[in-house]
Amino acid sequence: MKKMKLVIAAVLSLVVLAACGGNSDTKDSSAAKTESALDAIKEKGKLVVGTSADFAPFEFKTLVDGKDTIVGSDIDMVKAIGEKLGVEVEFMDMQFDAVLVALQQNKVDIAVSGISATAERKKSFDFSTPYYNPPQKIVINKKNKDSYTSIEALNGKKVGAQKGSIQEGVVEDQLPDSQKVSIPRVPNLIVELNQGSIDALVLEETIAESYLSQNPDLMIADIELTSNEDEAFAIALPKGQDDLKKEIDSILQEMVEDGSIDQYVTDAMALADKNTEE
Ligand code: ARG
Repeated sequence: MKKMKLVIAAVLSLVVLAACGGNSDTKDSSAAKTESALDAIKEKGKLVVGTSADFAPFEFKTLVDGKDTIVGSDIDMVKAIGEKLGVEVEFMDMQFDAVLVALQQNKVDIAVSGISATAERKKSFDFSTPYYNPPQKIVINKKNKDSYTSIEALNGKKVGAQKGSIQEGVVEDQLPDSQKVSIPRVPNLIVELNQGSIDALVLEETIAESYLSQNPDLMIADIELTSNEDEAFAIALPKGQDDLKKEIDSILQEMVEDGSIDQYVTDAMALADKNTEE
């Protein structure tokens, strides 16, 4: 009888062990089914990138051999990443306020569009290591140089910002008594300012400088804004894709450190000066 109990106990423990083993097996196979984004990108041989090509020198359109082409430092940067990953890069151009929506809906693999990695956006997306961090600036007409010299001077004035950009927040928080005007595309903001239908606009410095070189009647105002150190440009990634993030981070980190990114910006700045179509 004792022996019998022992045998039963042994059999039971085997069953329990088998069940445990079975459990971990199930876990493994379900993990294999939800393929990593990095593997998926490598398998299809293509990295699909969401961008808003209205943001020289980071991404803009110009004629290359007579063909309308998306160019810029972000574009060169992603092409270099694609090369390192051994995949082709395909850009999907859209309005800026649609870029992160496209990423959320898995219509693109990553979003690269001079995107500031804000705490708010980090709730919904992961971000790569930061690669550029230009300060916020106010752009005005040269004819207002002597009157628009302080935040208060813009009270009640129309101040433009790109729709969906953090510049909307800059206007709301730092120019609270001005009238915010949200406009979908940066080149249209510039047109409105040139025409005087808005009085000022907020852009990050590098972009402001690029558009200014095409628009001799505009200038950067001598008004100090606060820029958030923690909101540098970064590549937006789907949440939880750690292997994709790791791979992109290591490539990007190297490009930041060896000066490639700065070189891409300098080159794109020259290209935008020469031949901006938008
Ligand atoms: N850095 C700003 C933001 O993330 C503006 C980015 C606009 N980018 C563009 N390609 N238009 O909100």
